[in-house]
Amino acid sequence: MALYIQYWQNGVCSFLQTNFPQVVMWRTLVSALGLCASAFAQSSTVDSYISTESPIAKAGVLANIGANGAKSAGAYPGVVVASPSSTDPDYLYTWVRDSSLVFQTLIDQYAFGQDTTLRSHIDNFISAEANMQQVTNPSGTVSTGGLGEPKFNIDETAFTGAWGRPQRDGPALRSTAMITYANWLISNNNESYVTDYLWPIIKLDLDYVMNTWNETTFDLWEEVESSSFFTSAVQHRALRQGSTLATMIGQTSVVSGYNTQANNILCFLQSYWNPSPGFMTANTGGGRSGRDANTVLASIHVFDVEAGCDGVTFQPCSDVALSNLKVYVDSFREIYNINTGIPAHEAVATGRYPEDVYQGGNPWYLTTFAVAEQLYDALIVWSNEGSLTVTDVSFPFFQQFDSSIMPGTYSCSTPTYSTLTTAIKKFADGFVSTAAKYTPSGGGLAEQYSRSNGTPTSAVDLTWSYASALTMFNARAGLTSASWGAAGLMVSPTCSTSKAATVPVVFNVNATTVLGQNIYLTGSVGALSDWNTADAILMSSADYPVWSTAVDLPANTQIQYKYIIIDSGDVTWESDPNNEFTTPRSGITTLNDVWR
Ligand code: NOJ
Ligand code: NOJ
Repeated sequence: MALYIQYWQNGVCSFLQTNFPQVVMWRTLVSALGLCASAFAQSSTVDSYISTESPIAKAGVLANIGANGAKSAGAYPGVVVASPSSTDPDYLYTWVRDSSLVFQTLIDQYAFGQDTTLRSHIDNFISAEANMQQVTNPSGTVSTGGLGEPKFNIDETAFTGAWGRPQRDGPALRSTAMITYANWLISNNNESYVTDYLWPIIKLDLDYVMNTWNETTFDLWEEVESSSFFTSAVQHRALRQGSTLATMIGQTSVVSGYNTQANNILCFLQSYWNPSPGFMTANTGGGRSGRDANTVLASIHVFDVEAGCDGVTFQPCSDVALSNLKVYVDSFREIYNINTGIPAHEAVATGRYPEDVYQGGNPWYLTTFAVAEQLYDALIVWSNEGSLTVTDVSFPFFQQFDSSIMPGTYSCSTPTYSTLTTAIKKFADGFVSTAAKYTPSGGGLAEQYSRSNGTPTSAVDLTWSYASALTMFNARAGLTSASWGAAGLMVSPTCSTSKAATVPVVFNVNATTVLGQNIYLTGSVGALSDWNTADAILMSSADYPVWSTAVDLPANTQIQYKYIIIDSGDVTWESDPNNEFTTPRSGITTLNDVWR
């Protein structure tokens, strides 16, 4: 077993591999050297699954892409077949969503330099999608709504049967994949190809998003017609990236329109939040519990490593996204037979949503992988930042891994940080092991695996299942895609929604105390106990002499507060005047105070 020592150096957490056999020895070494560290044992089960499954998944994706894929006979060049299954279910079609997510994975691999042979596939994909944009279909023509058509025949003709249409995530995902490629081309001296050829294709999709994001849509599961979190989240991302690309290549006429609607979508996204018990309701319609992989997929597909743990854009390590993840995962613990007997805080099989009955309503590979991917993304950001923050919103999530955890910020030098990140890595690996356990020996990934015994079921060789394995494997290896501009985004001042009404604030105070004394926080708003010392918030001394806590406070509000010492019921107040600050409209605030 190899141990990896992670330490904080020149502003980055770095890794050092050692052969020390015992964590205890490692801890001693780390504290002796004063390094900021965490160590995690590599899981051999997951490592070996990844090494056998990676090439299978990659080949599985390529087999389903025309014209020469081994399992996609009849598909035109660059057309992605959802699955070669032609009956029960018949997936011998090409979906804009599946194809775009699959090519996002391949374009990222190409941009990472993982496989330079993908270039011709990418070029074929672009021309196939450009052709289908122009095909008149039951949703309309290219200029009257046809871009919202969810699926086509694999010879690029329209599918004219009854279906849940339109699905407005398609154009957003497709333009995002193409913009990723465009950005790569620009940094590799091929801007003219982007301007002359790619931009008009991308612009059609972005204009569609800009003009229609506010209209109802079928959700990504093609069942509920309302507004849908995944769709809104990927639409927001597409317009932001589109406006940046347009600026870069001098197409400035679209910029203000894209930015205005991106701001509106960002505001709207906040309204899906359900504060109790803390999750994003997947759809505004549909009459379900609202717990849905829709939201977890949204988080991983809007991940931007430069945006930190921002909740407004639902970054994987944000308090809202972690709380949401726990609520989502827990909704499957009791309903699948294969989850029986698994302890409450361990990984389980997860599916689209608990009420699902489609093809048996089983767990899905791609949703189980998505849970792992969100957690790996979170670990990447905490490691980059050298700390993690527990707020009152993410508290139930973190409590799964440390029952005595308290809200606060834990730097990577604290044992609490090591305990949490080690446990979360293990938890994430557990979802991979679950899917691995139910992957058949040849490594094929179907759409679902049986809720009663784990046997693969529904569509075989689902292209999206394979792509979801590949992106998750990259996240586990610490690879991140280029930033899309999520960092520092703010919800517009005129936006009013329930979630935008609060923002997380971290309070740190440097205070020397003696045994028996504890530092508490109290202040002028309900979340700070309204100056009532009996309800004041106990702070964590994990980073003593810095005492820390994190609280969600009303946004854009003037707040007064003080730290107090309580020693067997005796209260000692800080000296006057009260501390005072105004919360922002969005984003996390950290206050570093010294006891007065
Ligand atoms: C087929 C869709 O692809 C699937 O997502 C849906 O659950 C079923 N139709 C039932 O509506
Ligand atoms: C059904 C899924 O619900 C939908 O998201 C997907 O696009 C199609 N199957 C094709 O894989």
